[in-house]
Amino acid sequence: MASSKSRTAQRIAELSDEIRRHDRLYYVDDAAVIADAEYDALLAELQALEAEHPELLRDDSPTQRVGGEAVSHLVSVEHRQPMLSLANTYSREEVAEWYRSTLDFLGLRSAKREGAEEEDEEEEEDDGDNPDAALTLTCEPKLDGLAVELVFEEGRFVRAITRGDGRVGDDVTHTARTIRGLPLVLEGDAPKRLEVRGEVIMTRKNFERVNANRREQDEPEFINPRNLASGTLKMLDPKSAAARPLDVICYGLGATEGFEPTSHSEMLAKLEGFGLPTSLAWTGRGDLDSVLDHYDSLLAGRAELPFDVDGAVIKLDDVALQTRLGQRSRSPRWAIAFKFPAQQGTSVVREIEVLTGRTGALTPRAVIEPVYVGGVTIEHVTLHNADEIERLGVKVGDRVLVERAGDVIPKIVAVTEDGGGAPFVMPTSCPVCGTEAESPEDEVVVRCPNPRCPAVIRRRIQHYASRGAVDIEGLGVKLVDQLVTEGHVARLSDLYTLDTETLEGLDRMGETSAANLLAAIERSKTQVLSKFLFGLGIRHVGEHVAEVLARHWRSIDALRTADEEALVDLDEIGPVVAASFTAWLVDEEERRDLDRMLELGVAPTPPAAVSSDGTSPLAGRTFLFTGSLQDMSRREASAIVKAAGGKILSGVSKNLDVLVVGDKPGSKKKKAEELGIEILTEAEFLALLVER
Ligand code: IVH
Repeated sequence: MASSKSRTAQRIAELSDEIRRHDRLYYVDDAAVIADAEYDALLAELQALEAEHPELLRDDSPTQRVGGEAVSHLVSVEHRQPMLSLANTYSREEVAEWYRSTLDFLGLRSAKREGAEEEDEEEEEDDGDNPDAALTLTCEPKLDGLAVELVFEEGRFVRAITRGDGRVGDDVTHTARTIRGLPLVLEGDAPKRLEVRGEVIMTRKNFERVNANRREQDEPEFINPRNLASGTLKMLDPKSAAARPLDVICYGLGATEGFEPTSHSEMLAKLEGFGLPTSLAWTGRGDLDSVLDHYDSLLAGRAELPFDVDGAVIKLDDVALQTRLGQRSRSPRWAIAFKFPAQQGTSVVREIEVLTGRTGALTPRAVIEPVYVGGVTIEHVTLHNADEIERLGVKVGDRVLVERAGDVIPKIVAVTEDGGGAPFVMPTSCPVCGTEAESPEDEVVVRCPNPRCPAVIRRRIQHYASRGAVDIEGLGVKLVDQLVTEGHVARLSDLYTLDTETLEGLDRMGETSAANLLAAIERSKTQVLSKFLFGLGIRHVGEHVAEVLARHWRSIDALRTADEEALVDLDEIGPVVAASFTAWLVDEEERRDLDRMLELGVAPTPPAAVSSDGTSPLAGRTFLFTGSLQDMSRREASAIVKAAGGKILSGVSKNLDVLVVGDKPGSKKKKAEELGIEILTEAEFLALLVER
């Protein structure tokens, strides 16, 4: 006879399975079979049994979605495979162009090229009588949410990581667990390891619900579902996150073991088989024309979709071809986002105000009657500078056409009705500190030159503390305002001199918040180098540039020795960035502030060593291809070399290590022989890759 304990264990297992089945029916299949109250009763019974028998409680129990503890901060985690972004376009022609270059890359328009004289294949014109080979493409909605990686080991959900900068993201396992459509255990034959990528979103219905609640509570509403989804996923306390229902929709893979679908469409179908929500139901598949038709129907039906979609993603279906195509620096060659056209609305300009930014730039912006455009309420529109205002001819009282395209900041397209107001005049002094403004000759901007301008200081501190920079949780806009206004902070290093007494003396700051803030400031001392650099707010040093710099120099000390030449030599760093960075390095005040930060214990963490695969026989060597290749186009060959850490040269010189010759090599081969350069056939080159 079974013991009462094993009967309980069995009932717990039954209930768990039953609840999971209903989760799937409700969240994935959109076909619920029981009423909410019945579902709640199942959950309550399970909760009661687990409370009585804590030893039978499992991590993956459906009750554990909100059961987790709050975390003190989000931990950075490196993705096994970088999470890329997508090249995007608003034009059909550019999609067709992408398709042609894809064919080119794969050497599928080779009829024209075979035997063609070497040099650059890009110069060869397609004369039109060469019917394009048909590649199978897929076309799915481009979801407007937040990209996330979900890791399953032996079928169990173990971790969720945000995209972050693509290489390193935040661990959001605790909040991702609250996503009811996310199975904590996969169905069927789950692979050993499965990293699934998808978008965390909030449906429009849930968004409205959350906002209705906020209105009732007299709290500010969220701007759009994307912001709300992103804010919720990055919360520290899963219980708060659970109150804002998120969904996830999967569309891609990271590193996997034991799961190798051969096409994108097969992958989506298999993910559905595991019980993961995908956008398969809205995905079209076929040749270029048919996926463009699918794009049209997605566009026409976007309002009927339960969530915001800002375009379509067109992908090459065949995984083997995807692999051959590989990626550019940050996006795959095998996919392109075809964005929906901008959405527009009209409104009236109430006021044109001028703001002083982080760099002292005075930026006019229009305050308009709130208008709802493409899922967002717009009240402020930047006007960039006086030239832009003149170009638009916009004045207070005018009716204007406002446009918003995807994640692009909203803009005024044109004045549609003259309100008869007076023309706008750019102020000649800073509206905040009153210092006379300067307008450098070669720039359109007008700047407040006062480094002690409270607006500049406030913005710099806000930027430094922001999530993309050193991320000092709890140091919000209002607090920064107070700290600056009351004279506690006038430069970045001052943040590291704040003490309990000062903080507790601020408005609405209790003992606990003060302690939390000090802890957050302390943590920021060892933020990763790239985020620290970005936080310094050096002109032209955005997140990406900061990362390139951090990865190359790896420490503040090393960076301080960088000269302009060495900077420009770096891929992705142009002369403007290099000049701006070196100007910053020699600026006396900046030097002193940085020295003081270091003295006060700021010690940014160097980037994790990237395994650039020193074992690759291609790493660090230079290559050139000549003649026509059999198994790949020259563009593909070049991409392979670059991906393996090698370099492509444009001509034969003594700097060349290897010349790879295809059919009918021309003069290059002879020259290479004369110089004694290593010459490989295409087959020998490919063998090099296999040896790896
Ligand atoms: S594929 C390597 N598919 O768009 C391929 N991305 O603009 C990259 N996104 O970071 C992802 N819907 O967050 C893919 N159906 C979809 C998508 C999608 C939305 C997001 C994703 C990505 C961003 C790039």
